[in-house]
Amino acid sequence: MQFSVSTTSPDTRRSDCRIVVVEDKGQLTASATALDQASGKMLSKIIKQGDMDGKTAQTLMLHSVPGSKANRVLMLGMGKADECNESSFEKIINSLLSVINNSGIAKLQLCVDDINVKSRDAAWKVRQCTMLMSNSEYQFKLPGRKSSAGKAKAVEVVFHVDKGDAAAARKAVSQGTSISAGMSVARDLGNMPANICTPTYLANQAVALGKGQRKLKVKVLGETEMKKLKMGSLLSVGAGSREPSKLIVMEYNGGDSKQRPIALVGKGVTFDTGGISLKPGLAMDEMKFDMCGAASVLGTMKTLLEMDLPVNVVGIVPTVENMPGGQATKPGDVVTSMSGQTIEILNTDAEGRLILCDALTYAGRFKPRCVIDIATLTGAAIIALGKVPSAVLGNDRQLIDTLVNCGQEIHDRIWELPLWEDYQEQLKSNFADMANIGGRDAGTITAACFLARFTRKYKWAHLDIAGTAWKSGGEKGATGRPVPLLTQFIVNQMKGK
Ligand code: BES
Ligand code: MN
Ligand code: ZN
Repeated sequence: MQFSVSTTSPDTRRSDCRIVVVEDKGQLTASATALDQASGKMLSKIIKQGDMDGKTAQTLMLHSVPGSKANRVLMLGMGKADECNESSFEKIINSLLSVINNSGIAKLQLCVDDINVKSRDAAWKVRQCTMLMSNSEYQFKLPGRKSSAGKAKAVEVVFHVDKGDAAAARKAVSQGTSISAGMSVARDLGNMPANICTPTYLANQAVALGKGQRKLKVKVLGETEMKKLKMGSLLSVGAGSREPSKLIVMEYNGGDSKQRPIALVGKGVTFDTGGISLKPGLAMDEMKFDMCGAASVLGTMKTLLEMDLPVNVVGIVPTVENMPGGQATKPGDVVTSMSGQTIEILNTDAEGRLILCDALTYAGRFKPRCVIDIATLTGAAIIALGKVPSAVLGNDRQLIDTLVNCGQEIHDRIWELPLWEDYQEQLKSNFADMANIGGRDAGTITAACFLARFTRKYKWAHLDIAGTAWKSGGEKGATGRPVPLLTQFIVNQMKGK
């Protein structure tokens, strides 16, 4: 899709389709009223006849409307104007997209100010539209194969805005496009089957991302180097696999060399069988998505490159395959982490925290101004919060609040769970400094409690994206979350917000 911004009236330009927004109970917005007059009250007649009452996301396509230079007019319901929020906006745009993507429309006009979203300006609406529209074009394809669905047709979208909003709207288009590009990287990696997407593949993709990029330096540590660093916990997870484990380090240096980096640490389990604590078979295929945290780090790096932001961000990705096997780690085994703390592995399926803890210790070397880890860590996160927000826990009030606000702003939401000391006792072990599981209760919290023991030296937040990184069922596939949230956070940090 191509996006542009125009400050002229939509009715002075030719296009295939002009959107007319209708409020609840058939109320026409300002720009629609002008067209209604020009068309001899065609729009209000349709509303009177009861074919369009302005309910949220309702659509009605009209052809050859008199007085309009557009070949089609799409009436689009937005519900009660004062109740329209970020979620209803997304619904409205997605409903618009389902009509457009199944039509012959090549050029589309939308007056963003016609849709009223509580406390969001024109630039916000343009950015969200750009993101949603670009994302709707995503198609997965296997390497070296043509996509089965054929080439997407080129659609041009013209956003009509007030003169005063034009500059911000153009910036919003570019931001939305960059975020969507990063989400596509994350979705491709997530969707890639685990027989292709191995730790080595992930590392190669990271190297490829940095190729020819002056601002992105990529380094990959192998098992020998990790042994030297005493990453006994990380290495224990890949022990049963033929695929060698890796630690990917991506340094994006867009800012001043003295500026401390933001560190992003992403869980990269390319397939999680559970190991010796083998998972049941149902939906086990979805454990190819267990590297979506890693994918979101690579995706965010892509977005940073596209936006050319003047910040320093380091991405750290521990990546392994969790398999049973003759060399596999067994329940009851005790390992020593890079931090020196010992861990009794009571369940080999609680492997995410075992690779993250060593990566988090390693992150400390960069003197980060804050560290955010992103992981499909616990099924319990889905039990607690469903698939709407990701879970957030951490050791710094301000960092968590900032992240929650960023998620709200870009509509990639997160919700906090308590990380109280009281839960720590669930990790008690008779044979090591801690166990790697904390029993049935509060699984997402005890997983974060485990990580908290490795993040005492810096400001840290943990995102559990088990419920949000991919969709199951008919629409099975990676979502690209939380690339938008991470980007918003980095952008706001720059502005000192
Ligand atoms: N990758 C899973 C978490 C997961 C499960 C995410 C299902 C999304 C859907 C993780 O490695 C895991 O297996 N966690 C265990 C932890 C338990 C053994 C303490 C879980 O959630 O059951
Ligand atoms: Mn697991
Ligand atoms: Zn896992």
